Amino acid sequence: MSSVRGKVCVVTGAGSGIGRQLALELARRGAAGLAISDIDGERVSETAALLAARSSGAVVHAQRLYVADRAAFLAYGDAVCGAFGVVHQVYNNAGIASGRTVLEAGFDVYDRVISTNLFGVIHGTKVFLPHLIASGDGHVTNISSLNGFMAQDELSAYCSTKFGVRGFTEALRIEMLRDRLPVRVTVVHPGGVRTDIATAGLRHAEALGYPVTERDRRRVELYNERLLRMPAERAARIILDGVERDRARVLVGNDARIVDLLVRALPSGYGRVALLLNRLAKLAR
Ligand SMILES: NC(=O)c1ccc[n+]([C@@H]2O[C@H](COP(=O)([O-])OP(=O)(O)OC[C@H]3O[C@@H](n4cnc5c(N)ncnc54)[C@H](O)[C@@H]3O)[C@@H](O)[C@H]2O)c1
Repeated sequence: MSSVRGKVCVVTGAGSGIGRQLALELARRGAAGLAISDIDGERVSETAALLAARSSGAVVHAQRLYVADRAAFLAYGDAVCGAFGVVHQVYNNAGIASGRTVLEAGFDVYDRVISTNLFGVIHGTKVFLPHLIASGDGHVTNISSLNGFMAQDELSAYCSTKFGVRGFTEALRIEMLRDRLPVRVTVVHPGGVRTDIATAGLRHAEALGYPVTERDRRRVELYNERLLRMPAERAARIILDGVERDRARVLVGNDARIVDLLVRALPSGYGRVALLLNRLAKLAR
């Protein structure tokens, strides 16, 4: 059993959304230590303040970390292991979205999204894996998406990384089983969760110098109003229930479950259905 009680847990992207709620829920479930990080140092400090206000008893280590920076992540691993002496669970959660067609997106979009969403997960796993094994009771949880099994137009960079996170995580699980190593492995596929991710995607596009059009804004509005529905607190509870039950794969939300069935039923035809549903969602606004 991967119980959370008494464990030392690492959460990336803990300054907002699912990552922040994972940190709060881990504390509520009795984690002994929490290493929380985010590219946004102020927001991760806010999460640390929320944890302190709830006086859960967990020792908190909070710092800024850009998960795409390999050297920084290696140093972070040393800092966390130095602070706690042991690490049991890692939640590789930090992620960004981007909404550009393959034709429009420059390589900079792919560099940015892949370095955070895929390399961030690979870094977090590789840096902590020896420590998880040494703990004798380790768990790696990597956050993919429903876009880890269903591709979507204008999300090629995001889908590449989320399919990649799924492949990486499932390969890791097989290796842990084959070598009888004491690390359980979970891949998480959330559907729409009410967080900042779509709006942040626009900010990233602007930061890279892409013009943000009215169409981009409408797409983000559609996501925020109609698709990102589940409260992040609930998503965090579902994820941790899955971890505590040793689930290899956690689907978060009915939308993720329906899409999973759709893709299995129509492996080469689901794209047309998705386009049709998209059109209907726009008409219903
Ligand atoms: N919200 C959804 O509907 C949804 C659906 C499927 C999957 N996900 C995944 O869940 C994870 C969490 O996203 P969220 O919805 O909570 O979004 P969010 O934008 O609210 O939170 C993401 C956090 O990651 C941080 N971050 C971004 N890039 C980083 C980097 N390079 N290094 C360190 N931190 C970084 C951000 O500052 C932010 O605090 C992501 O991997 C996302 O792809 C979200």
